[in-house]
This record gives sequence, C-alpha cells and structure tokens, in this order.
Amino acid sequence: MKVHIIGGGNLGVAIALGFSAFAPDVKLTITRRNTKSIEYLNDKGITVSGDNCHDIASADVILLTIKPYQAETVICEILPHISGKTVASAVSGLTLETLREFTGDHQPLVRIMPNIAAQFGASATCIAFDAKFKTQADEVINLFQKVGTAPVIDEKLMDAATVLGACGTAYALRYIRASMQAGIEIGFDSQTALAIASQTVKGAAQMLLEENVHPEQLIDRVTTPQGCTIVGLNEMEHEGFSSSLIKGIKTSLQKIKG
Ligand SMILES: NC(=O)c1ccc[n+]([C@@H]2O[C@H](COP(=O)([O-])OP(=O)(O)OC[C@H]3O[C@@H](n4cnc5c(N)ncnc54)[C@H](OP(=O)(O)O)[C@@H]3O)[C@@H](O)[C@H]2O)c1
Repeated sequence: MKVHIIGGGNLGVAIALGFSAFAPDVKLTITRRNTKSIEYLNDKGITVSGDNCHDIASADVILLTIKPYQAETVICEILPHISGKTVASAVSGLTLETLREFTGDHQPLVRIMPNIAAQFGASATCIAFDAKFKTQADEVINLFQKVGTAPVIDEKLMDAATVLGACGTAYALRYIRASMQAGIEIGFDSQTALAIASQTVKGAAQMLLEENVHPEQLIDRVTTPQGCTIVGLNEMEHEGFSSSLIKGIKTSLQKIKG
C-alpha cells in the first residue's frame, strides 16, 4: 500500500509518523511547498517532496491534510494523475458533495476526521463515505485502525466529529493544564504535576474504554460520601465546569458551520 499525504503540517506529519510506526508496510510520501521543516522524515523512510504530483501515479490512497482554502487548487493540480485512486480528505468542512464538484462523480472519495494522536496510535478517526465507494473506504478504515479507532459515521455528523474528536484534543489538554496549575498551587513542581495529571487522565480514559461504562459509574467508585472528591466535583459544577465545556463545544461547532 502506498499513501501520498498532501499537506505536511501538524496533522499530515502526525499521520505520517503514526503510519511509519504502526503500519510499517505502508510506503509513504508527504508533500508541502516549504519542505525544510519536514526533511527529517526522510530519515524515517518517508519520501518528502515539494511537488504534490511526485510519484503520485504509484499511490493507492491520497490523503489531503491541507487547509480548506487550499483544497480546490491542490485537487485541480493532482487531478490529471489520480484517476481511480482513493482520495481521503481530512479537510475540515469540505463535504463529499463539494469534493465531487472538484473531482467528478467517479473519483473514489472518503472523508476522514483524525486527530494528531495518530502519531501515537491513538487517534479517533471518524470516517464517512458514499456507499458506492465502500471497498475503497474499507481500505482507508483499515489504515486508520492501525493508528487508533476508526468509527464510520453519517457524513452530516462530520462537523460534530471535528469538534468532538479533533478540537477535543485541545479541550482535553486544557483540562490537563488547569489540573497541573492547581497541582503546583497545592505543592508539586510543574513537571511532577503534569506527569500526575496526564497519567490520571490517561487512566480515566483507559478505564472507560476498557470497561465500556458510563463515566458516572466510575465516578461513584472514586467519591466517598462526604469525602474530598465529591466536594471538589460539586464546587467545579457550581462554577460551571460541565456547562462551560458544553457551551465551548457548541461554539466550536457554530464556528465550523459558519
Ligand atoms: N491539526 C489538527 O489537529 C487537525 C485535526 C483534524 C483535521 N485537521 C484539518 O487538517 C487540515 C490541516 O490542518 P493542520 O493543522 O495540519 O494545518 P497546517 O499545520 O497549517 O498544515 C497545512 C499544510 O499544508 C501545506 N500546504 C499549503 N498549501 C499547499 C499546497 N498547495 N500543496 C501542498 N501543501 C500545501 C502547508 O505547508 P506549506 O505552506 O509549506 O505548503 C502546511 O504544512 C485542515 O483542514 C484542518 O482543519 C486538522
């Protein structure tokens, strides 16, 4: 399998590094206009190029990890070389319908919404496609299952997936940062506070994923009646913890939808 990633920025590089680590059989090319900052990827066996069409004819899957306003130009540039090849687009807000306007009806198209944890095999990559391209989409699903989970969703939820699964990385990191700041206030040096906060979040997420239960069931196991956890939790809720998160997620969604 050969994967050609166009857009060697934050997401493109994270995916390239993820495939390189967890799908070593996949041959990778990654492109951007200014290649200097990603030339180190050559040392990992990833071909870096400033030419979007470099060896694209031998690719099986083309991944688009460029900004929305760059998509039309890039697609027009590569279109003469990608007949019949699967194009998987991670471009936020770019619908299959708009992609089809650029490529025509016969190009196999898949929408993906990964996050930068793909680099560590831990992305939640939501995937949507038209039924007629199921075979090609299955290939993309298999690929992204190597760097995390790859749930198939209805395309109309793609913007919501962008917020929950991609922007969500930033929300989770901000939670960790706040915990770290509190950890310093209650006595830890910053590195120790960060290590404890990060591992605690990882552990909480791991329990949820492995036990497949509602978060409150696990919270019940941590909250002793009249104990220190419940008073802290309730204080956070009085200050709008859940409410501010929900409002923030809805605000991000409004921004995507324009
Ligand atoms: N970052 C995330 O966590 C994340 C998660 C999910 C989805 N996304 C989506 O993924 C896309 C990329 O996001 P990002 O955060 O990775 O942005 P980014 O860091 O700005 O990366 C975009 C890359 O595209 C390259 N580029 C621009 N024009 C190009 C062209 N004509 N040909 C080839 N490469 C070109 C840019 O490099 P040069 O200027 O050197 O060409 C840049 O490295 C966006 O649509 C975003 O919404 C991002």
